[in-house]
Amino acid sequence: MKIKPYIHNESSLAYSVGETLDRFIKKKQDDFTYASGELSQLLRDIALATKIVNRETNRAGLANIGGAFGQTNVQGEEQQKLDVIANIRFTRALTKGGEVCAVVSEEDDEVIDLQNSSGKYVVAIDPLDGSSNIDVNISIGTIFSIYRRVTPIGSPIQLEDIMQPGNKQVAAGYVLYGSSTMLVYTTGCGVNGFTYEQSLGEFFLSHPDMKAPNDGKVFSINEGGYNQFDQGLKNYLKVCKEREYSARYIGSLVADFHRNLLKGGIYIYPSNPKNPNGKLRLLYEANALAFIAEQAGASATDGENRILDIQPTSLHQRTPLFIGSSVMVKEAMSYLAKEKV
Ligand code: AHG
Ligand code: MN
Ligand code: MN
Repeated sequence: MKIKPYIHNESSLAYSVGETLDRFIKKKQDDFTYASGELSQLLRDIALATKIVNRETNRAGLANIGGAFGQTNVQGEEQQKLDVIANIRFTRALTKGGEVCAVVSEEDDEVIDLQNSSGKYVVAIDPLDGSSNIDVNISIGTIFSIYRRVTPIGSPIQLEDIMQPGNKQVAAGYVLYGSSTMLVYTTGCGVNGFTYEQSLGEFFLSHPDMKAPNDGKVFSINEGGYNQFDQGLKNYLKVCKEREYSARYIGSLVADFHRNLLKGGIYIYPSNPKNPNGKLRLLYEANALAFIAEQAGASATDGENRILDIQPTSLHQRTPLFIGSSVMVKEAMSYLAKEKV
């Protein structure tokens, strides 16, 4: 019998599809301090829900699941049908997995106790980000944060398990349902991005070890509120325009953030007299993206403080957000500070 070793043949006839998310998660498991396999399973559960939400998102125009659901959420915002569907899909996936004891979601008034007190983890989620863009076929997203519970495993879930600052996240990620669907996540050892290959039903590593440019030439802000902006912010925007930076604002935080992470830029959602803490939510939006930003070498602040160090005091707490290339965030903050003295 003749035996010959396998030699990988990188032929143009059969290009390599690369590494699947499942295999990558398994390989990286040992990098993680609590390498028990449960976090890996939890990430896989999220990836599965993502595939289902991706399917719903793609057929929204055909399946009568576009448009408003007819109710408002706890923040007084009109829920879209897909907001509700995505919330159910993610919560269900997290319930079935058994690793999670509680979920907090932008779409639920209260903490959802999954009645699984042996679960080690707590998940905060914005199931569908940019929902005003669903009906107009523009990129939308999902954002999630994973924390380790602080009360003993096996005991009932407490508020302190939920109210943890972002620097306690053990993993965070986002999904962008865009021209392709991508899942980007970190467990605190760098950031990796995966692109969904629809016909194979798998995410493949497409953006290994993502690093944000230190500086950029894109500013992303809804300038409709300009008259209400602080003078410091107005001065910073003036400088951006004098330098002929590009204005890019999709209105889906995930999409704006993702572009700026890849190309360099700053995303700003400021406070204003009517909304002194801005619009975006600390637990469901800012914390996860801030963790990813820092892991990729970018920065995230509320204009004064590092987002990850803010101690949450309420579930649906909002925060102003300045996030993106470190040089730009720093400069924006210096313009704000000048007007505060
Ligand atoms: P959500 O759909 O989860 O409520 O989030 C919408 C957010 C964010 O994605 C986006 O950047 C911002 O709201 C847009 O707000 P404006 O329309 O006020 O610019
Ligand atoms: Mn959102
Ligand atoms: Mn949302």
